[in-house]
Amino acid sequence: MKALITAGGKGTRLRPLTNTQNKHLLPIANKPILHYALEKIAATGINKVGIITNREGDEVKQAIGTGEKWGVEITYIPQEAPLGLAHVIKISQDFIAAEDFIFYLGDNMIVGDLKKFIDEFKNQNSNCHLTLARVKDPERFGVPEIVGDRIISIEEKPRSPKSEFAVAGIYLYDSNIFDAVNNIIPSKRGELEISDAHQYLIDHKKQISFSEITGWWKDTGKPQDILEANRLVLEHIEGRTNGSVDTQSVVTGHVQTGKGSSIINSTVRGPVIIGKNTVIKNSYVGPFTSIGDECQIRNSEVEFSIVLNQCEILDVHMRIEDSLLGFATRVVNASGRPRTNRFMIGDQSLIEIC
Ligand code: DAU
Repeated sequence: MKALITAGGKGTRLRPLTNTQNKHLLPIANKPILHYALEKIAATGINKVGIITNREGDEVKQAIGTGEKWGVEITYIPQEAPLGLAHVIKISQDFIAAEDFIFYLGDNMIVGDLKKFIDEFKNQNSNCHLTLARVKDPERFGVPEIVGDRIISIEEKPRSPKSEFAVAGIYLYDSNIFDAVNNIIPSKRGELEISDAHQYLIDHKKQISFSEITGWWKDTGKPQDILEANRLVLEHIEGRTNGSVDTQSVVTGHVQTGKGSSIINSTVRGPVIIGKNTVIKNSYVGPFTSIGDECQIRNSEVEFSIVLNQCEILDVHMRIEDSLLGFATRVVNASGRPRTNRFMIGDQSLIEIC
């Protein structure tokens, strides 16, 4: 069995962060999203992994390398343009050859292992095994219509969903999927839709099985999803201090700090992760916050946020919450007169002021 992981697409819903960085490399608890997918795949024992990248996929290649770190061998498959998930499968046919494979959307995160889905796929002799998750907003996803124990139709992002399930981004296939992706036509939005490929399998009487993801699953397509994924991963971290904490500081709960970091006269309430060479001084860092390497937080308060490497938050007298700060962002106090807010922000940024 092989694995195929997506790391292409446009990441439009995460702009401006994705103007300069591939969304799959954004950190959740200070680790790129894509690492989580690779860890899950490696844990199943699969060692041949294809990663789909954008046409200029160097950023992903550089960040992930040969796969040695996870004990897998990676083949990079560039996609000329984001033409849809079925297109991803189509261009991976040579890599997959005649083997069964797991298709894992690199922006999906799941708690628990993948082995049970692989076993279910094999034990039921299926041509396609889908994983379903109960969601509040099925219209954002591929949605199955289920009668008894059978999926009888699947629609992509339907206006009126026929169930409360989303088809999650973890799929198992045998080579019948290639018939499907080679015979469907692009949708109205110009993509070869994975849901249309599934519908093709249903129409051609192929065996589709499914299991429900009962634990936690997240598609990290939007900023709020990224913060929520960060919260859930941090919930499971262990406390480990590699930096220094002075006697004036109060550190409670599970807090990880990297080498060279210091917490000075501050309150840090875990779960929190702090990278290397970061200074937290006269500040408060609240639960569910990830702070990257080489950041400076002084005389400020941050909670439920992700702060990427080399950011500075200095003398900000209002708590920063629910926020995602991109690489080397500076949020500083505007001293002097007139008292006013000043912005120097990139395209498609979002600032919410109260
Ligand atoms: O997360 C589950 C959902 O994923 C499913 O329920 C939907 O049926 C499926 O279409 C997909 O919907 P999204 O709108 O979330 O797909 P998105 O465009 O975000 O792409 C998912 C992943 O695939 C992400 O890692 C980017 C990558 N991608 C996407 C396209 C369209 C590519 O690598 N190439 C592409 O052409």
